[in-house]
Amino acid sequence: MRIDIITCLPRLLDSPFSDSILRRAQQKGLVEVNIHDLRKYSTDKHQRIDDYAFGGGAGMVMMIEPIANCIRDLQSQRTYDEVIYMSPDGEQFTQSMANQLSLYKNIIILCGHYKGVDERVRQHFITREISIGDYVLSGGELAAAVVSDAIIRLQPGVLSDETSALTDSFQDDLVAPPVYTRPADFEGMKVPDILLSGHEKKIEDWRFNQAVERTKSRRPNLLK
Ligand code: ADE
Repeated sequence: MRIDIITCLPRLLDSPFSDSILRRAQQKGLVEVNIHDLRKYSTDKHQRIDDYAFGGGAGMVMMIEPIANCIRDLQSQRTYDEVIYMSPDGEQFTQSMANQLSLYKNIIILCGHYKGVDERVRQHFITREISIGDYVLSGGELAAAVVSDAIIRLQPGVLSDETSALTDSFQDDLVAPPVYTRPADFEGMKVPDILLSGHEKKIEDWRFNQAVERTKSRRPNLLK
């Protein structure tokens, strides 16, 4: 899978992809992440990518030309399944959306800034708008990193134990059950006996019941 991220602050996206699982996924060739600096696509001699809003008001608006140039340049090289715009007023990001996006071959993610992008970009170039939650970030970069992370870890071969993504919270509309590791007794705080029993079927049932109980108490909205 290939992810092309368009941003006016490329350095913000240096670190999320340069460590641990996301870095290894790229090294193994399971995913290719390309960060594009929007200023390089500016038609202006000062490399401007934003301007005042028509009609007045505070805040700058990202101009259509550099964005159109960048998206068209990418689209001339390959076909994209989706051109995503990160925005607080987009569709709320969920695990099922991550599952769906993870099946695509090529996606573009555009990061917004300032007062956002010229509306004509959203109308004519964007196929999907995604929000990572009901709060406003200073730009779409961190949101793009969140979405990319959720997608990349689902690519086959990225997680060492392939089943582990399937047992994540939300994959069955349930949150994950509690987990424990050594020591079995820390200052009298004990690990549930069942987990030490070696009885696989009983452990699996216990985990499922714990996940259901946790979902009921913490996230009842997930239960159908
Ligand atoms: N840009 C700013 N805030 C955002 C959010 N909550 N989700 C996605 N993109 C954003």
